[in-house]
Amino acid sequence: MNNHKYNLKTDIDRKIYTEEEIQARVKRLAGEVDSYLEDKMSRQEIWKRPPIAVCILRGASVFMADLTRYMKVPIEYDFMSVSTYGDATEPGEVRVIKDLDRSINGRVVIVVEDIVDTGETLHHLLKGFEARNPREVKISALLDKSSRRKKNIDIDFKGFDLEEDLFLVGYGMDYAGKYRNLPFIGTLKKELTEQ
Ligand code: PRP
Repeated sequence: MNNHKYNLKTDIDRKIYTEEEIQARVKRLAGEVDSYLEDKMSRQEIWKRPPIAVCILRGASVFMADLTRYMKVPIEYDFMSVSTYGDATEPGEVRVIKDLDRSINGRVVIVVEDIVDTGETLHHLLKGFEARNPREVKISALLDKSSRRKKNIDIDFKGFDLEEDLFLVGYGMDYAGKYRNLPFIGTLKKELTEQ
């Protein structure tokens, strides 16, 4: 019964982070976020107004699910969807497709991203958050691709530093909408991205 037609793994050229490496790192990261929140907020505060994890759709969805499930501190979920226009229109223009459902006024917010690349997306989002008077906004990103950074972003809870300028898929990241459901992160075979 294991005779499936599809095997996304065969499209991968190089594995960059294995499933085991990712899970181990995300688990430790969850511990770091828990410790931070427990230091920052009293037990009563956490119960009354829990921190909010804001997932930036769609790439961060897998990381969000794992990170928050490894956490022990109660945390609410919210989701935002943005679209970035690189060179097609104004460089770095970011449009909000889906905004937060609830107010973040007075709340501790943990923004959850899969990757920070140019930093344009987070730069824009953080500016928007400031006006909503959160108690504090912290950033957790699985990958920091600093070689392409245009805007300065402080990542508070970081998974991995990606030194090389690689196009990655898996663990939430896509190529043409696919490969998000791979449990590891890798690069695609060259022939698949050359059209
Ligand atoms: C990716 C990623 C970040 C953003 C980072 O999203 O999830 O949100 O790009 O890039 P930046 O630092 O250069 O702004 P993408 O636009 O690929 O959408 P997706 O999450 O729906 O795949």
